[in-house]
Amino acid sequence: MSDNPRRPLVIGNWKMNLTELWARPLLDELLPRLEDASAVETAVAPVFTSLRAVADRLDGHPTALAAQNVHWEEKGAYTGEISPGMLAEMGVRFVIVGHSERRTHFGETDERVERKLTAVRRHDMIPVLCVGETEHQRDEGRTLAVVERQLRKGLGMLTVTDGGEIVVAYEPVWAIGTGRVATSEQVDEVHRMIREQLGSVYGAGPAGRVRILYGGSVTPDNAAELMALEEVDGALVGGASLDAGKFSDIVHAAL
Ligand code: PGA
Repeated sequence: MSDNPRRPLVIGNWKMNLTELWARPLLDELLPRLEDASAVETAVAPVFTSLRAVADRLDGHPTALAAQNVHWEEKGAYTGEISPGMLAEMGVRFVIVGHSERRTHFGETDERVERKLTAVRRHDMIPVLCVGETEHQRDEGRTLAVVERQLRKGLGMLTVTDGGEIVVAYEPVWAIGTGRVATSEQVDEVHRMIREQLGSVYGAGPAGRVRILYGGSVTPDNAAELMALEEVDGALVGGASLDAGKFSDIVHAAL
């Protein structure tokens, strides 16, 4: 990725794993391994209850703090939710929005995704908009249409003046947690379409600065091939991010 103007980004999505107690030894092992990889921006997304402890552990280290979800309102009667201001106060830099697990299990709609994106930007955090087709949609030949709809509706009225303000993660649903990584051809086709769509919404300049990550069964074995693709600017890593050695190897593949 040496001729790529966008700084590679690798985010570890810990999902509903790792209490504070378990996060600490993982970071103790991981952070020193990332020291020679500062050309890659890195972040980890712990569960909400570990945000403070992880923030403290990351203090002084370039690895950033990410959140897995957010509510769009600032405060009020929303039992069980966390507001963007609360995340910002915690030092969160990236917020994953519209992950397929949230779309599938928690009724996350494109409309909610758009509200969340806007709320995250209001607090100067960077939304990571997740898009991706199901296996059924791919079999029916609807991949590009589905991803385009999620992208356009998710971005909604969000204006981008500086590409650093958003990140897009292409995560085919059938590749998440299954060990079935998408082929280079499949990833390349969708990432190019995403870049084109961003260009038609924001213009080529800002669109060219948006980082587009791939996610879905990324491992040290397949990371280098994926990262070598021109329009792949990094990875959103689930399972492999729970292992310091694997996550570090993936980060190094993005160098
Ligand atoms: P996986 O998850 O790497 O375990 O497939 C990716 C994700 O859900 O972001």
